Amino acid sequence: MCRKAARILSAQVVLKPGSVLGLATGSTPLGVYKWLAEWCAAGDVDFSEAVSINLDEYVGLAPDNPQSYRYYMDDNFFRHVNIKPENTHLPNGLASGKAEECARYDAVIRAHNGIDMQLLGIGHNGHIGFNEPGAVFEMDTHCAPLTESTISANSRFFSDESDVPRFAYTMGIRTIMRARYIVLIVSGAGKAQILKDAFTGPVTPQVPASVLQLHGDVILAGDEEALSLLV
Ligand code: F6R
Repeated sequence: MCRKAARILSAQVVLKPGSVLGLATGSTPLGVYKWLAEWCAAGDVDFSEAVSINLDEYVGLAPDNPQSYRYYMDDNFFRHVNIKPENTHLPNGLASGKAEECARYDAVIRAHNGIDMQLLGIGHNGHIGFNEPGAVFEMDTHCAPLTESTISANSRFFSDESDVPRFAYTMGIRTIMRARYIVLIVSGAGKAQILKDAFTGPVTPQVPASVLQLHGDVILAGDEEALSLLV
């Protein structure tokens, strides 16, 4: 699954070296970043002109906090490839004004003429980015409260559940839907039901990923367990 997604992503960069890549964190894309680092080291893919714009960041975490998404991206991807640090973008978890930070981030996306390829994972509750169930579709970058289920799922990365930030900056559904194409990666039996709901159920804000049914160009890369209820 990760190899497939990495191939799609590297083909994008080979065909358009200055691609704007929308990237995700979490457990699922780790393998994607490993493959890309390996191929970059071998000289098969070159990120020197590429731009990355991540989906989200926790509010209140500094870039050097190991739980921050900036740290994750540096640690798992950016420092292993030849992308220019100034071409890597994430919301600033320490920004003083939330509305200003969201507007700044949307301006970064616009200044790069939008996202070419958006890599996405899906939460057990159907979230994409931190657009939790009930999130309105017509939203750009905003500061979102995390649901209890996301706090509990993400607590595996923190020493205590009470340390998980309660808010995150996230691209909105509208921002995500403007990407030219989307690669959704999903693994594990635990995601099988939500994946089925997202792609065969009604399009509803209660299952944020269901909006992807309305995008003209979505590639779903999943392992057998995750896809088991779809085939
Ligand atoms: C990460 C993100 C989240 C994750 C989702 C799945 O930047 O926006 O929506 O993609 O929570 O996470 P994992 O891959 O850890 O199951």
